[in-house]
Amino acid sequence: MNEMVMGATDAQARPQAGAKESFTLAAGLSTKPVLNDSYVSPAFFELEKERVFGRAWLCMGRIDQLPHADAFFVKEVEVCKASVLVTRDASGTVRAFHNVCSHRGNLVVFEKCGTSSRLRCDYHGWTYKNDGELIGVPDQRQFFDLDKKKCGLTPIAVDTWEGWIFINLQRKPELSLKEFLGPYAESYAGVPFGVDHRTLVIEAKFNANWKLIMDAFAESYHVPAIHPSTLAPGFSNPINNKYARPLSGSTFGLHSAWSAYGNDEYAAPPGSHVERLACLVDTGGLLGSDVNDEVLRLRAHPAINPTKEVCWSADVTSIFPNFNIDYSTGGYWTHEFWPLARDRTHWILTIRIPEATSVRHRLQLEHYAARWCEVVLEDVTNCERIQKGLESGAKDHMNLQDGEFMIRHHQETLRKWVNAATVADAMK
Ligand code: FES
Ligand SMILES: [Fe+2]
Repeated sequence: MNEMVMGATDAQARPQAGAKESFTLAAGLSTKPVLNDSYVSPAFFELEKERVFGRAWLCMGRIDQLPHADAFFVKEVEVCKASVLVTRDASGTVRAFHNVCSHRGNLVVFEKCGTSSRLRCDYHGWTYKNDGELIGVPDQRQFFDLDKKKCGLTPIAVDTWEGWIFINLQRKPELSLKEFLGPYAESYAGVPFGVDHRTLVIEAKFNANWKLIMDAFAESYHVPAIHPSTLAPGFSNPINNKYARPLSGSTFGLHSAWSAYGNDEYAAPPGSHVERLACLVDTGGLLGSDVNDEVLRLRAHPAINPTKEVCWSADVTSIFPNFNIDYSTGGYWTHEFWPLARDRTHWILTIRIPEATSVRHRLQLEHYAARWCEVVLEDVTNCERIQKGLESGAKDHMNLQDGEFMIRHHQETLRKWVNAATVADAMK
């Protein structure tokens, strides 16, 4: 797996994204139309479940969800029919288990999160330590040769990278998390995620394939048409970037990233009193933030806005198969795109913003969050219409432009994993 960055030479075929090279060619991707069966085919979805979600490392959350020993949380991974219990045991070690009782298979923990050194199944009272060991069986003498040592919670492979907790549902993962993240982990190592962030969660379920929701956040080509009044004035410029072309774009093995343009000539309209008050003068960018040490450290990191363009607004990074971490001057946010069925998706957007340090800062953050809600509604409500269009069978392929290279890369990677008998084959 090599990191691939811009460097194409075919001037004829080169769309001028941000007046730079072609991202598609630089990443070694095909430029041909892309088949769209992966959004509608039941057979493809079955293979995705088994060969992608059943074998890839999947992000469960952030380490600050386990702030101390004995903290735990549960994450339902419906696509793999798994209820995943993530704990921090007394020694501080992060562990993951199937949240399934060894007695007769009841779910052990019902709460989404909590703190407890003991986890007790409600059905007959079997009790486990948060390191998985079975320690309590009521009326044990009535069992037949029960070996409690063999009846602990079933462990799931777990590892962390930069504070993100990943699990792998293969009994013996073919790849380590480090190998799976590959050049992405190397490039984004040390990106400051800040501390004491508040989180704003927006989630919804849609009648659309999970990749259609993901694709909505994979490119900026749609900005002028879908977001004419919310995003377009800040993320395009009628003179030098009418179509909101990305500033840069790269692939990192299975993963990818692009940088979004920001219009430094943007000024809030005279009638937008709140926006003018929140974002004028000394803000860190279009998305609203004070210029503080955290923002400066983020901007200085070599992977963030890698070409260090002045007109930068945000970076979108995609971790295969279904997780985005995005960065801007106002904080960072993540998207989770969880399939529930071939044509049904649970989407979770978690926006992490710093604690306000002044009234004005608070106003900026509230404005930022409100603007976010407007924008994502424009994005996601479109996806059900696309699903309908694709289900009609009228089209069997998509025509992708250069700024949509991330969709093309995801499709190619996905197809490799779906077709490969082993993960080693998928990584070739
Ligand atoms: S199923 Fe858990 S104690 Fe019986
Ligand atoms: Fe959008």
